[in-house]
Amino acid sequence: MALPITLIPLSVPVFNGKENLYTHQAISSGQIATSGEFIEKFENKLSSRLKTHESVILNSGTSALHLALILLGIGPGDEVICQSFTFCASANPVVYLGASPVFVDSETTTWNICPDILEDTILSRISKGKKPKAIIIVHLFGMPAKLKEILEISAKYEIPVIEDAAEAVGSQYEGLDCGTFGKLGFYSFNGNKIMSTGGGGALISNEASTIQKAKLLSQQARENMPYYHHLEIGYNYRMNNLSAAIGLAQLEQLDSNVQSRRLVNKRYKTLLKDFPGIEFQNESPDSFSNFWLTAILINKDKTGFSNVQLKTALINKGVESRFLWKPLHTQPVFSSSPYYGGTISENYFEAGLCLPSSADLKMEDQELIVEIMFNELHKTAE
Ligand SMILES: Cc1ncc(COP(=O)(O)O)c(C=O)c1O
Repeated sequence: MALPITLIPLSVPVFNGKENLYTHQAISSGQIATSGEFIEKFENKLSSRLKTHESVILNSGTSALHLALILLGIGPGDEVICQSFTFCASANPVVYLGASPVFVDSETTTWNICPDILEDTILSRISKGKKPKAIIIVHLFGMPAKLKEILEISAKYEIPVIEDAAEAVGSQYEGLDCGTFGKLGFYSFNGNKIMSTGGGGALISNEASTIQKAKLLSQQARENMPYYHHLEIGYNYRMNNLSAAIGLAQLEQLDSNVQSRRLVNKRYKTLLKDFPGIEFQNESPDSFSNFWLTAILINKDKTGFSNVQLKTALINKGVESRFLWKPLHTQPVFSSSPYYGGTISENYFEAGLCLPSSADLKMEDQELIVEIMFNELHKTAE
């Protein structure tokens, strides 16, 4: 049986700004590859938003993390601590470099890496003679992690933090943008992110020399010489001018899209306030989430339906939803990696669902989604 056409997608970018104008200008200039005015313009606008930090724009968030690890000197035999509750791209580049991920469970407030387990993990690895070389933290679905506690641990053990802010473009902690707290940070501008360039990413640092080095490595490490001259191995990771044209237009609308996604989250919370057995990810007083995706946890004992049943009920009405990330320590591909923690992220995976969260999601669409949820609730009450 064919599935109904998706009428309400999970997350799509909105192009209400100068995307058409800028891409037209990029094409007219004849520069659609890795040189052209929009690359500099997008980079400069992003860097000026980040105030104390600079950025290099790349062809994906995954490339940005790969370069971040290279810049920190991670190599074969090294261990890198990774948040388990995330997408595989938060850990894959560790393996590209011949290093090993060590996974850590989440805490229950932000659903991100648990600082207490993080410290236990560091002590345990040190006692085995394997001091981790870096800590990759994630701001899941846009929700800032417990940065204060994490940064204290990072300083205490002198292990640098890489902030995976792929999902958290425009999220803030203590008034500053996520991505600017770690030694290095990165964003994704993938197709369904809050800001999209089709595919793309950015690496962030407060050291100009680090950004310069990342730019060099992202362009096949081609030295500034009249002929092709290479002192080291580089990568083809630079963003092209056409994507940068879209990125600049998207960045100009970032703050309004953050407000729209926050409104979507607020409306779900209002519409579901009397719904039994539904829990949301919540901000702490220090944090400001872009609410890229609104994620819920379903207590089946109270709702009578599981995340699988709700997902089916939604798709039958043309509404797309998505399970939360399957923790990486439970992924077959990482079965031999060490793991520290309990079952928090596993429980969240079993109970959770991401609801449609696009910036242009209409109130009536959200009412329909909530109506489908109430229908499932009444089914079990009958
Ligand atoms: C948490 C997280 N990390 C890393 C990535 C990788 O970003 P990209 O798809 O741009 O390579 C993504 C998104 O795709 C992500 O959601």
